[in-house]
Amino acid sequence: MLRTSVLRLLGRPGTSGVSLLEYSSPRHYSSGPLGAPDDGRGARAFFTTPIFYVNAAPHIGHLYSALLADALCRHRRLQVPSAAATRFSTGTDEHGLKIQQAAAAAGLAPTELCDRVSAQFQQLFREAGISSTDFIRTTEARHRIAVQHFWGLLKARGLLYKGLYEGWYCSSEECFLPEARVTRQPGSSGDSCPVSLESGHPVSWTKEENYIFRLSQFREPLQRWLRGDPQAITPEPFHRAVLEWLEEELPDLSVSRKSSHLHWGIPVPGDDSQTIYVWLDALVNYLTVIGYPNAEFKSWWPTTSHIIGKDILKFHAIYWPALLLGAGMSPPHRIYVHSHWTVCGQKMSKSLGNVVDPRTCLDRYTVDGFRYFLLRQGVPNWDCDYYDEKVVKLLDSELADALGGLLNRCTAKRINPSGTYPVFCTTCFPSEPGLVGPSVRAQAEDYALVNAVATLPAQVADHYDNFQIYKALEAVSSCVRQTNGFVQRHAPWKLNWESPVDAPWLGTVLHVALECLRVFGTLLQPVTPNLADKLLSRLGVSATERGLGELYFLPRFYGHPCPFEGRRLGPETGLLFPRLDQSRAWLVKAHRT
Ligand code: MSP
Repeated sequence: MLRTSVLRLLGRPGTSGVSLLEYSSPRHYSSGPLGAPDDGRGARAFFTTPIFYVNAAPHIGHLYSALLADALCRHRRLQVPSAAATRFSTGTDEHGLKIQQAAAAAGLAPTELCDRVSAQFQQLFREAGISSTDFIRTTEARHRIAVQHFWGLLKARGLLYKGLYEGWYCSSEECFLPEARVTRQPGSSGDSCPVSLESGHPVSWTKEENYIFRLSQFREPLQRWLRGDPQAITPEPFHRAVLEWLEEELPDLSVSRKSSHLHWGIPVPGDDSQTIYVWLDALVNYLTVIGYPNAEFKSWWPTTSHIIGKDILKFHAIYWPALLLGAGMSPPHRIYVHSHWTVCGQKMSKSLGNVVDPRTCLDRYTVDGFRYFLLRQGVPNWDCDYYDEKVVKLLDSELADALGGLLNRCTAKRINPSGTYPVFCTTCFPSEPGLVGPSVRAQAEDYALVNAVATLPAQVADHYDNFQIYKALEAVSSCVRQTNGFVQRHAPWKLNWESPVDAPWLGTVLHVALECLRVFGTLLQPVTPNLADKLLSRLGVSATERGLGELYFLPRFYGHPCPFEGRRLGPETGLLFPRLDQSRAWLVKAHRT
């Protein structure tokens, strides 16, 4: 299937050099259900996280942004295993007034602060298993080249002009705010200080001659893009919110600051008295990492999925696509938006002293445990609350008891003394439900289980496509519960390997449960890569048998040979995920203090 849509941006006389800009959507290829998905990207996919400010150490919200992107990317790699088909970038946003001021407050040169905090992000992401293929720092030379080239294009297309710009500037949010988004708060000396209504951060009145981008020209093209591609921004409420914003007037945007005020940034080409606006600088990182301005970037743009938090939606869904259209490029393929983590019901903030350190969490709950928690509990549509007991409860019940218990029940020596993947008996469990006969043992609920697990990979893929990773994990968890029910119902521990009547059914029960576990292990790889590796290794599944293309669930039931039957189970017999509530002295202690 090949679908092409064209969006035309007509330049207005006297305002810009853009006469006719064509936007064609990428080609849509169809393919098998679990191969390269027919999602408009062909086989290639490029995932990005926001680049993180280096004014403060990373917290769990930052890790969550990166984990969402990591899980999407890892899931994609399971569908299209070629390393050349996927790119995944993250990095640090190092310029701007916010960093300049944070460095000054810490008595450091900006480069020192950037090196220090960027290294913390890199270390955290390494430890958390973020499988990015590039880590960009906006202070790198390759980025300056990309930004200045991009600026040159906008200039050449008549989209930049110089003018007086004035308004409230919030350095914490790095943007101008309209009067309606500014309020007054009593300051330390009792006087009234203007602050951002949303974040509460101070704002200051700024009046400067700057370069200004003709953003106002792009209101209609942006509306056409979003109306023509209802999934461009996912989940849907955020798509709707952006269309609502676009109902209002879209003023032109200041895209530089006086260098005397902001020196920590990339100079405007040909005009050293001005520094490029940090958001324009930062957004171009998505092009820098794919080789822009060299032509190679074209094979990755616009097959891009940006993962972002809701607070930076306007920058990604309005400014960035407008800048891209202005430079003659297409908007990104997808913008996936997530909400925020609060802590014990409160916004996380340095001043409240409630910032949760992600490295402590990785230590306490293990890398896989904490990844699972954030992705299982994090719901993109609304804010989620963090507290320690919630992590312990979830991990103990879903990873230690349900999943670990299931594996243990089917592989323990006393129940599976041969330590092999047992044989499936088609007379005990015929593919046709409702058959009766002396050796038929399967019941209606068992067929329901087979059906649920058989359709699970496609269901999970749908949830990933819709950026509902928590729903994918919920679906896996529900199938784990169903499989435990299956084992419980047939109580294999009451069956006897020595009995010619019991043995084929006992083997079948274990075979079905192991096949379910193989599906769960495969599908959990994007979220809990180490735990999934342990699980699949224990089942004897080799590294080349772990992709979604190879995932043929219960082939013997469908009349095909099963490559696992009779295979030796892996040697590692330790607990899949030890319970946490035994070992949480730190939690009790933390509550007493
Ligand atoms: N530097 C800009 C992004 C530029 S991208 C071209 C920025 N940086 S940030 O460090 O403030 O935020 C990075 C990401 O972390 C954003 O997606 C933001 O939404 C996310 N989070 C920040 N606090 C968060 C929570 N409390 N919870 C979840 N995510 C949060 O914005």
